[in-house]
Amino acid sequence: MQVAIDGPASAGKSTVAKIIAKKLSFVYIDTGAMYRACTVIARNHHLDYGDEEGILKAIDEDGIELRSENGEQKVYSAGKDISLEIRTPEISANVSQVSALPKIREKMVALQRKMAGETNVIMDGRDIGTTVLPNAEVKIFLVASARSRAERRMLDFQERGIETDQSVEEIEKDIAERDYKDSHRAISPLKKADDAIEIDTTNLTIDQVVDTILEKIKKNQ
Ligand code: C5P
Repeated sequence: MQVAIDGPASAGKSTVAKIIAKKLSFVYIDTGAMYRACTVIARNHHLDYGDEEGILKAIDEDGIELRSENGEQKVYSAGKDISLEIRTPEISANVSQVSALPKIREKMVALQRKMAGETNVIMDGRDIGTTVLPNAEVKIFLVASARSRAERRMLDFQERGIETDQSVEEIEKDIAERDYKDSHRAISPLKKADDAIEIDTTNLTIDQVVDTILEKIKKNQ
């Protein structure tokens, strides 16, 4: 079974996907973490964020690996744990430019399909239902108001121990900019698949969202 969860930044995709993966013993794949890792690699190699060929070569050199350690998702590149680094505001501000590069997307999509393989998988991102796993049995499109997403991101920073001097208003502006770029790029823009179910999480608890998705999965099993 394949479950695709798409939606704009900080709509709660990874939070609910992780819980569902644990409950059902599905493999969880955070595709946003992969594009973030590409951005960290570009920065570490002092490359321009639009340098498609340079970044591709650097990704080949350093590699990107998602690992599950004690139930926690970790991202490794060049033998280093970059799980915290991929979440910094600098990387968030530049990831949309890197993820819009066609050859980078091609490489990540191939990797994502390979990781999904033949196992039960829940994958979150922007183009999972439309492009990566178009035959997924369950497709969810999570949305929430920009303000509530900014508040969640602020909380997320605090929980992960990432220091920020940004206000909630500034975070909201950054999120809106990223969503705009992700929805307006030429290749696989952020878009609800025709057969996806939209869930607005603004006024729902995490448990309510999880239960709604679990119900859809059960119906398809
Ligand atoms: O999900 P997250 O907010 O961590 O994703 C970071 C960025 O990675 C997105 O803003 C988008 O530019 C890119 N992305 C993408 N396609 C995906 C997942 C993420 O382009 N499937």
